[in-house]
Amino acid sequence: MTATATRTEVANGRLTVALRDGSVRELHPLWLRERCPCAECHDPKTGQRLLDAWSLPLDTAVTDAQADGDRIEVTFSDGHVAPFALDALEAALATRKRDERDDIVTWDASLDPIPEADWSVAKDDSAALYDMLEQLRRHAFVVVRNVAPEIDAVTEVVERIGPMRRTNWGGVADVKAIPDAFDLTMTTRALEPHTDNPYREPVPGYIFLHCLVNDAEGGDSTVTDGFRIAEEVQRTAPEEFEALTQVRPDFTYVDDDTILENSGPLIELDDRGRVRQVRMSNRTDAVDAGDPDLLDRYYRARRRMTDLVNDPAFQLHFKLEPGDLLIMDNYRLFHGRAGYKPGTGHRHMRQCYMDRDSVGSRRKVLAREHGQR
Ligand SMILES: [Fe+2]
Repeated sequence: MTATATRTEVANGRLTVALRDGSVRELHPLWLRERCPCAECHDPKTGQRLLDAWSLPLDTAVTDAQADGDRIEVTFSDGHVAPFALDALEAALATRKRDERDDIVTWDASLDPIPEADWSVAKDDSAALYDMLEQLRRHAFVVVRNVAPEIDAVTEVVERIGPMRRTNWGGVADVKAIPDAFDLTMTTRALEPHTDNPYREPVPGYIFLHCLVNDAEGGDSTVTDGFRIAEEVQRTAPEEFEALTQVRPDFTYVDDDTILENSGPLIELDDRGRVRQVRMSNRTDAVDAGDPDLLDRYYRARRRMTDLVNDPAFQLHFKLEPGDLLIMDNYRLFHGRAGYKPGTGHRHMRQCYMDRDSVGSRRKVLAREHGQR
């Protein structure tokens, strides 16, 4: 980056610096001292701090600062000189850090075309793989075509991204009708829109649903953008939106050798007030008796939310074909399926999970090479 003049000023032990975006920031001396990038203070290989920042004297002060092109040398009261690169300092000072929530696209039933990727390309092409993960990040789902319709072929895709999240149900699990179903997934029933496994901690971040056979009558997949639904609730009923962010239902799964429990609001906000996660599980949620007035708002709000989720105006329908892999963001997407008629054909899917940080990590590493973030 071309260097431009940077003004610095030291007063009362603090550094004030004028940044290239025109902003002026006064910086705490310990904030600067513990970020000193020199090889004595930070390991050049791991980037981790070598300096024992917890023991720095609380009265550490900045005594001098020299700006020179794209560098600022800061001297501290302990005599240490920190050679800051202006780029790194400005990145650390960015008030609004970029994250996975940036420039996402919320959508309704009019989304067309649906986000797609071609595994025959993405499996060997990291730019195409990055594009696939960006589609997933921005739309909360992507249909990956041409994943061999073979029993464990989904693992080939998983392995290109990160470690599979194993659960008490194992790694890759069957989704097909079986006689002794322990979950409604394993029946021919329709499944209303839901998020998976809100009783786990952490809640599984992504669902990989791979279609092997789907020639029974019915069985279409449905997906709804939970963030779009949250926007709609907030726009039409702000009080109800608030109740959905405040009341924390419990979610529970119990069988002979497993007890899983977690809780969380149907609409969870991040520390910037943006929706970070939605939950919906008609079979496993339970609220405390609590304040009846609050529950009154909550139940109205939940009804508004489920009405919207079931409204065709917000729902996409499509039928997965053998070789299609539907990857879904389980913190944002509600997914379901239409019922299907046994005897008209077969429906066999294979499903597994991956944690959010694994998908996020692969996307960010690929972005170093192919993208901005
Ligand atoms: Fe599910």
